[in-house]
Amino acid sequence: MRPWALPPPLLPLLAALQLHGAPQRNVLLLLADDGGFESGAYNNSVIRTPNLDALARRSLVFQNAFTAVSSCSPSRASILTGLPQHQNGMYGLHQDVHHFNSFDGVRSLPLLLRQAHIRTGIIGKKHVGPEAVYPFDFAYTEENSSVLQVGRNITRIKMLVRKFLQSQDERPFFLYVAFHDPHRCGHSQPQYGPFCERFGNGESGMGWIPDWRPQRYSPGDVQVPHFVPDMPAARADLAAQYTTIGRMDQGVGLVLQELRRAGVLNSTLVIYTSDNGIPFPGGRTNLYRSGTAEPLLLSSPAHTGRWGQVSQAVASLLDLTPTILDWFSVPYPTYSIFGRKEVQLTGKSLLPALEREQPWATAFSSQSHHEVTMYYPMRAIQHQQFRLVHNLNYRMPFPIDQDFYVSPTFQDLLNRTRAGQPTHWDKTLHEYYYRQRWELFDCSRDPGERHNVAADPRYAVVFERLRSQLLKWQWDTGDPWVCAPDAVLEEKLSPQCRPLHNEL
Ligand SMILES: *[C@@H]1O[C@H](CO)[C@@H](O)[C@H](O)[C@H]1NC(C)=O
Ligand SMILES: *[C@@H]1O[C@H](CO)[C@@H](O)[C@H](O)[C@H]1NC(C)=O
Ligand SMILES: *[C@@H]1O[C@H](CO)[C@@H](O)[C@H](O)[C@H]1NC(C)=O
Ligand SMILES: *[C@@H]1O[C@H](CO)[C@@H](O)[C@H](O)[C@H]1NC(C)=O
Ligand SMILES: *[C@@H]1O[C@H](CO)[C@@H](O)[C@H](O)[C@H]1NC(C)=O
Repeated sequence: MRPWALPPPLLPLLAALQLHGAPQRNVLLLLADDGGFESGAYNNSVIRTPNLDALARRSLVFQNAFTAVSSCSPSRASILTGLPQHQNGMYGLHQDVHHFNSFDGVRSLPLLLRQAHIRTGIIGKKHVGPEAVYPFDFAYTEENSSVLQVGRNITRIKMLVRKFLQSQDERPFFLYVAFHDPHRCGHSQPQYGPFCERFGNGESGMGWIPDWRPQRYSPGDVQVPHFVPDMPAARADLAAQYTTIGRMDQGVGLVLQELRRAGVLNSTLVIYTSDNGIPFPGGRTNLYRSGTAEPLLLSSPAHTGRWGQVSQAVASLLDLTPTILDWFSVPYPTYSIFGRKEVQLTGKSLLPALEREQPWATAFSSQSHHEVTMYYPMRAIQHQQFRLVHNLNYRMPFPIDQDFYVSPTFQDLLNRTRAGQPTHWDKTLHEYYYRQRWELFDCSRDPGERHNVAADPRYAVVFERLRSQLLKWQWDTGDPWVCAPDAVLEEKLSPQCRPLHNEL
C-alpha cells in the first residue's frame, strides 16, 4: 500500500506525527525464545505477566497463530524472510557445528528495510546468518556480546533500547528485541537452574539484575499442558519456566517504557510472538499444534478498534515479513534465488485483521533439521480445524535434541519408561519416536491430537484436500523435498517426480 493510498483513518494520525517531526511509523518486534501460552493474556491464571497482559489490551490477540517451523534458527530465518526453511536455506540451527545459513541471494526483511531507508536494530539472540543476508544497523547479539546479557539481563536490554532510541535519526525504525528467555539453559549454564531462572536473582553467585523482581511458583500450582506428563519433575520444570517468563515479561514492560519515554510508542507497531513450541515433549521440534501454535499480539496505535479482542483467524509467522513491509509501504522485490523461478511470499499482511475479522483459515509448516544430526523432514498444513502432518522419513525414530534430553522432564520420562512405571503422559515414548507417515487430526473433536484419522474413510475428502493444498504450497515455495519420500525430483525433466518403487 502506498502512502497516498492510506485508508482515511490513518491520515489524521500521520498528519499529527509529521507536525511534531517524529518518525512516522516504526516497528518493534518482540520475540520470546521457546515461549508459549504462559501468560494472563492467553488465559493462564497462575502465571503473573502484567506487562504482556497490558500489551494484549492494546493488541489484537491471535488464537490461531502458527510458526512455519518448530526450531530456533529456521523459525527466525522464516520470520525475517517470509520464506519457509526449505526456501531460505536455514535448514537447521546456525551456531557452531550445525552451521546452517540462509542462501546468499535471499532478500531478508532487514535488508529490504535498510534499502528503503529504515533504520534497523537487533538486541538479543540473532542466531541467523550469513551477515550479508541479515544486516542490522545497530546490533548487540551473541555475535559480539554475552547472550545472557543481551538476551536475559533485562536491565542491560533496557539500556540498549535506550541507546538505540537516543541515536535515532529522522528515519523510521525497525527494532527487533529477541529475548533469550525463556529458553532452557540446563545443558549450557546448569548453575543458573534448568531455565536460567536464578540468573541475576540476587542470590549468592547468581548476580543481580536491578530491574527484575523475581516471582516464584510452586510446582503444585502450574498449569500442565495436555502434551506434558503431569509428573513432579515436569511441574518443577514448568515452575522454573514461569519464573523465567516473569523476567521476560518485566523486560517487555521496560522496553515499552523506553519507547514511551522517547515519545515513539504511539507511532510504533508492536508485535509479540515466539519462535517455536515450548521445550517439552510434543513441543519444540514437533509440527503438531503443540509444537507450532504461538502467542501473537499485534498492537497498532493507529487501529484501536479491535484492541483487546481475540481473533480466530489463522495467522502464520510467515505473515510477519509481509505485515511489516505493508506497515512501511515497502514493496517486495521481483527476484529469484536460484534459476529463473521468481520468489513469491506465500504469507499475507495481517494489518487488515486490525480493522475487521478475516476469514483466513490456512497455515503451512516445514521442518528439516533442528541440530545437524536431527534430520527428520516434515511438512504440515493447518486448515480450519484440521491439521495434516507428513512425516517423510517416518520409519526412523524421531530425534531428540541436547538440551531437551538433559531436561528433568525428559529424564523422568526415560527413567519411568525404562522402569515400566506410569508416565502420566498422553502417549508412550514408542509412539513419540515412531510415527505414521500421514497424521491427520480434527482439532475440533480432538484438541489433544490423540487420534490420527488419516486412514479413516470418513475423513478421506478432507485428507485429499489438505494433501493437495500442502503439495501445491511445496511446489510454490520451491521445496526440494516435494517428491519425497517415494519419488525423486528431476528438476530439469518432465515429469518431475520419478517413482522409486521403494514400497512406500
Ligand atoms: C480467554 O477466555 C475467554 C473466556 O473463556 C475467551 O473469551 C477468550 O477468547 C480467551 N482468550 C484467548 C486468547 O484464548
Ligand atoms: C556489536 O556490533 C555492533 C555493530 O554491529 C556495534 O555497534 C557494537 O558496538 C558491538 N558491541 C560490542 C559489545 O562489541
Ligand atoms: C545486568 O546488567 C546490568 C547493567 O549492565 C549490570 O549492572 C548487572 O550486573 C547485570 N546483571 C547480571 C546478572 O549480569
Ligand atoms: C502520543 O503520545 C503523546 C504522549 O503520550 C501524546 O502527547 C500524543 O498526543 C500522542 N499522539 C498521538 C497521535 O496519539
Ligand atoms: C533418572 O535416572 C538417573 C539414573 O538412574 C538418575 O541419575 C536421575 O536422577 C533420574 N532423573 C530423574 C528426573 O528422575
